Amino acid sequence: MSLRITEFPGWESEYRITGLIDGEKGKFIQEYTGTPANRLECHIKSIVRRASGNERHCTDLLQAEKGWNLRQYPCFGMFWFLHFDLAESPIYDEILASVKDGAFLLDLGCGLGQGTRRLVYDGAPQANIIGLDLSKEFIDLGFELFNDQASLRSTFLVQDFFEDSESLDRWAGGFNIINSGYFMHLWDWNGQLKVAKRMISLFSLRGGNIVTGVNFGSEETGRWAKAPADLDGLFLHGCMTFRRLWEQVGRETQTRLSVWSAMERDEDHARLDPKGLRLRWYVKLWGE
Ligand SMILES: C[S@@+](CC[C@H](N)C(=O)[O-])C[C@H]1O[C@@H](n2cnc3c(N)ncnc32)[C@H](O)[C@@H]1O
Repeated sequence: MSLRITEFPGWESEYRITGLIDGEKGKFIQEYTGTPANRLECHIKSIVRRASGNERHCTDLLQAEKGWNLRQYPCFGMFWFLHFDLAESPIYDEILASVKDGAFLLDLGCGLGQGTRRLVYDGAPQANIIGLDLSKEFIDLGFELFNDQASLRSTFLVQDFFEDSESLDRWAGGFNIINSGYFMHLWDWNGQLKVAKRMISLFSLRGGNIVTGVNFGSEETGRWAKAPADLDGLFLHGCMTFRRLWEQVGRETQTRLSVWSAMERDEDHARLDPKGLRLRWYVKLWGE
């Protein structure tokens, strides 16, 4: 029997995020947003509190709860945007150096855009980073969270990744790197093949391209039996199935590629599903 959405861990106003905003990550958010340490948790837990008129703890709005309400993506409800997974990629230094050197990066399904902000904080040229998300609300929440509406010069495209648009067409063949944070896993096997092929169509023909990301993965690979209702159909990978998917992409697009992935145990992933884990990965592509 599959779990219903009501049984699925959701946003909790008392969710402790102190562990996530201690140390280097906290320093980055404080410095980037100009928010002092003692206001940081309230700032992050901002939006819905104002929207709902509930002012129990903070005068600001509850960022995470608003994100959660827009659509029930567990990554917002569980504050995974504070993990800054792009910066945790084993090839983050290589990615950062490439963007500083002129490469263009697509932050795909960027949500609140934390990957974009981290790159900017680390000195990447803002104009070389393009965020894309179906939801303008998530992008707007990101501006509120990072307090950079007036200053950030990166482009954000609001659209379905699968749809052609004038703005995305302009980038065809222009990207060198794609960040796919908790994005690719939103589809079944064939949907993920489609995502990967679409990514390849946007890459620079010169080759030497990179996709990096994290998925909600599982020890029990295949269709996620415990998926919440509006995320039904997700194919959860382990390292082997993820490699098989990309090998199929390589064969069908005649692209030479190499795949790296690692399964990481994590309490929050196990809360969603006892077999759940974080699959961290990157793929390097060299063209035909
Ligand atoms: C699970 S969230 C991950 C957000 C962010 N990358 C992160 O790591 O926090 C998935 C994101 O993909 C976006 N998304 C879903 N389907 C999409 C599509 N077809 N085209 C563009 N974005 C999409 C959602 O709006 C959401 O922001």
